[in-house]
Amino acid sequence: MGVAKSSKRRREAHRPPAPFAHSAEAELARILDFYGIRWQYEPHSFPLRWEGDRVVEAFTPDFYLPDLDLYLEVTTLRGGLNTEKNRKVRLLRQLYPHIKVKLLKKRDVFRLLAKYGYGPLGPDDVPEIHRVLIPPQRLQERVAELARAVEADYRGLEPVLVGVLRGVILFMADLIRHLTIPITVDFMAISSYGQGRSVRIVKDLDEDVGGRHVLLVEDIVDTGMTLKKVLEHLEAKGPASLRVCALLDKRARRLVDVPLHYVGFEIPDEFVVGYGLDFRQRYRNLPFIAALKHHLLQ
Ligand code: IMP
Ligand code: MG
Repeated sequence: MGVAKSSKRRREAHRPPAPFAHSAEAELARILDFYGIRWQYEPHSFPLRWEGDRVVEAFTPDFYLPDLDLYLEVTTLRGGLNTEKNRKVRLLRQLYPHIKVKLLKKRDVFRLLAKYGYGPLGPDDVPEIHRVLIPPQRLQERVAELARAVEADYRGLEPVLVGVLRGVILFMADLIRHLTIPITVDFMAISSYGQGRSVRIVKDLDEDVGGRHVLLVEDIVDTGMTLKKVLEHLEAKGPASLRVCALLDKRARRLVDVPLHYVGFEIPDEFVVGYGLDFRQRYRNLPFIAALKHHLLQ
């Protein structure tokens, strides 16, 4: 009696959290959450074999990832089961050629994510990352939307897009890729906090923007102090108009009121890196916006 009870308890201790059937699935869900990739668990069954009208065999992949339009089946380590799964996946591909499905061992997940642009970040490689706030797909969709809004407002005006180096490079590159109206691009650079007593322009614009329609492109607006300085500097050049397009707005921290005409995302008061943004010059190459672990920032 006592033995049976304790082995039951042991089984329960190992039981994966609902709705998962295996702990490997629960772990995959945790990885996907970490990267901000949306998932649905077993949302769809595909009929594989019929007797008359009756479905006698079906296959239900473990996960569907709507952002990647991809079904995932997580394999266990037992060979026999894998052979059976392989057969079902083959059949599924034959019957539903438009469906994307992958059979994965847990360790294959990272390689797969790398293929979709989540690559540089195995949690073991960058232990400083707390979580992904904005995944690549959402960044790309939103930047395209911003470009459509900018395009609609600036048609016929040939605006000059001004970026403040260095954080803005990825956002600027993606934004202008989506613009189909004539534009020009220019950059300036300012000293950062700690490089002197006040904000200095360390690189001014190369072009004369007097009488031009200037759109200032910023990575992130935090207190607003940097932006205020930059706007004053540009205003003095006598542009025909001056507006701001910011990818990220950390509104909760605003000290100086600055007008933002286009905003990609409002984000909570967390220090973020990736997609051009750095912490001590690192992480600019991550294809997403992620929050750093708090202990690093103290
Ligand atoms: P502000 O003057 O406080 O608005 O700061 C704006 C500048 O600080 C941005 O252009 C960034 O270079 C930097 N910054 C502010 N918040 C973050 C962050 O969360 N991650 C990385 N850089 C940031
Ligand atoms: Mg900046």
